[in-house]
Amino acid sequence: MDTHRLHTSALFLLLLVIDAAMVTEAKLVPNYYRKTCPRAERIVTDVVSQKQLSHPTTAAGVLRVFFHDCFVSGCDASVLVSPTAFARSERDAAQSQSLPGDAFEAVARAKTALELACPGVVSCADVLAIAARDLVTMTGGPFYPLRLGRKDALASSSAAPDAELPLANSTVPRLVAMFAAKGFTVQELVALSGAHTLGFAHCAEFADRIFRRGNKGGGAAPAPHDPAMNPAYAKGLHDACRNYQRDPTIAVFNDVMTPGKFDNMYFVNLQRGLGLLSTDQELWTDPRTRPFVQRYAANQTAFFADFARAIVKLGVMGVKTGRDGEVRRRCDMFNGNPVPGG
Ligand code: HEM
Repeated sequence: MDTHRLHTSALFLLLLVIDAAMVTEAKLVPNYYRKTCPRAERIVTDVVSQKQLSHPTTAAGVLRVFFHDCFVSGCDASVLVSPTAFARSERDAAQSQSLPGDAFEAVARAKTALELACPGVVSCADVLAIAARDLVTMTGGPFYPLRLGRKDALASSSAAPDAELPLANSTVPRLVAMFAAKGFTVQELVALSGAHTLGFAHCAEFADRIFRRGNKGGGAAPAPHDPAMNPAYAKGLHDACRNYQRDPTIAVFNDVMTPGKFDNMYFVNLQRGLGLLSTDQELWTDPRTRPFVQRYAANQTAFFADFARAIVKLGVMGVKTGRDGEVRRRCDMFNGNPVPGG
């Protein structure tokens, strides 16, 4: 009887949670700016396309920033806030240090253009969502329709990113648990990881896979690199990263075959031991994630469809609507903050 009551109230709670999530999402609509800023999406598309043409690393940067924004306290542009002399922000976190300047600049430029066309109307969180979508499409990936109306956060925590984001050496069980805690399935984890078809990683993120010391304790010496890694690839990475401790800016492509193209080559690579991060390669080793890697490696259309669905879901996570947020005038500071030097 007691158990039954417990189940009933647990079910009720679950329904409440699901309902709350749906209500938040329901406030986002495809044509949110139809009356207030009809050219909003066009303006973002134009600005970020130009930026991508002049700086081809922009797409990967913006996509990663979007992931960090949504996974940490929801898609609310909290990742864009710069620290001030008085307050730290998400950008102070260790996990934010390698977020590339080009990504922030692309969003800032789009926002400036929007402020000229329709001041105070389009949120930075929406700008980031539109920019990420457009750049995925522009680099060859799927187009997916977006619902808009996100508000910008009123807070940005310097502790949250390191607590909430996965690390390059997280195990698959850890990744599965972290993504499950945010409502994502194993399949969605694998599909979203396909974003590593673009962009770079710094040597420090995978150094422990390629610089393994000999076993001094006798017996058979361990492989000089992670045995899951293709030996020729390991050698190439070893050479490229030789001086990474002196020059920590050295970075290599996540997808060694088609680095600037959003395609399914990332998954083909994993089957050949060409995954860069340990978290990438382990998606092939782990029996839970391997079938999805196989599916996406064999079928780009399936990958695009699942990636689109998963990133749309990522893009509505924890969004702020109504009075929960604001439309920032500048993406790098809350409206309440004085302009630096002003
Ligand atoms: C599954 C867990 C994930 C881990 C452990 C992870 C970790 C990393 C790391 C360590 C880097 C290299 C950063 C650097 O050295 O500059 C990176 C890059 C990147 N990540 Fe992830 N990531 C994950 C999932 C995702 C997801 C879900 C997305 C987007 C949907 C994403 C998009 C990117 C992109 C596009 C880059 C390249 C950035 C650039 O070139 O500037 N990642 N990721």
